[in-house]
Amino acid sequence: MKIIKAILPVAGLGTRFLPITKAQPKEMLPIVDKPILHYLVEEAVNSGIEEIIIVTGRGKRSIEDYFDYSIELESNLVEKGKEGLLAEVRAIPNLAKIAYVRQPMPLGDGHAILCAAHLVGDEPIAVLFGDDIIDSEKPALAQMMKVFEKTRSPVICVEEVPAENISSYGVIDPESSDGNIYKIKGLVEKPKQGDAPSNLGIVGKYIVTPEVLECLKEIEKKEGEEIRLIDGFRRYIEKGGSIYGYKFEGKRYDTGDKWGWIKATIDYTLKREDLGKKLKDYLKEIK
Ligand code: UTP
Repeated sequence: MKIIKAILPVAGLGTRFLPITKAQPKEMLPIVDKPILHYLVEEAVNSGIEEIIIVTGRGKRSIEDYFDYSIELESNLVEKGKEGLLAEVRAIPNLAKIAYVRQPMPLGDGHAILCAAHLVGDEPIAVLFGDDIIDSEKPALAQMMKVFEKTRSPVICVEEVPAENISSYGVIDPESSDGNIYKIKGLVEKPKQGDAPSNLGIVGKYIVTPEVLECLKEIEKKEGEEIRLIDGFRRYIEKGGSIYGYKFEGKRYDTGDKWGWIKATIDYTLKREDLGKKLKDYLKEIK
């Protein structure tokens, strides 16, 4: 079955990026001149996704404005004869069919996904979190879809993480592997260094089947705790379901983290024809 829908939950508070996230969604921070969310929408569309559901929250209206037409700006660009910019700006609302739902309270990434569940039928879907961007020849999601075609099971994107960073990640416990594909027997949230079942940390890209969504719906919200997507996957494994981890090809940036965002900004700028050389020269100058 072809995957045509993606849920992008972006209603989190972005506390790792305060104070800017007090009044600015972290998903709207630019990597050079496009917001992070634009890269994610492109990744989804270039992987064959036809419908995107963005789960927003309070203070995130700029997301809807960004993917909408901007009549004043467009007439201004027409008047000034700035055709290149005009074409660029006009292309944005046509990137994809986007629907929005709101998560009334930030009760966890799993809860955010459930806020969009009524827009999904009995079909597998993609879920892309708002901070992981991957620079790769083939979009990471398209790579994961290939794994889904083979396994017909939920897929979790993973990467090798240095031991000293593993305690910031959800980590998979692999039962067996076949190249870059791992059959998962367990999932551990933020293990202590030394206790981790592998060095494979979870990246915020998933293929979720209706069965996993059902498991997520069964998770009871406990006072003061969030509902996380990983809880749904755990329950699915407990019920005997098979899940696979996939180690993607490409370079991943955690743009929800200040240092990750800085690295993404530098690397994407260096790749730009108009800015790359300038940045290289500048870095040499200040070194
Ligand atoms: P994160 O944990 O990375 O995002 O959630 P966060 O909570 O915004 O960030 P920090 O840790 O406080 O800095 C993963 C994804 O799930 C979304 C986030 O927006 C992000 O895309 N999310 C998280 C929601 O949509 N709702 C929530 O209640 C929590």
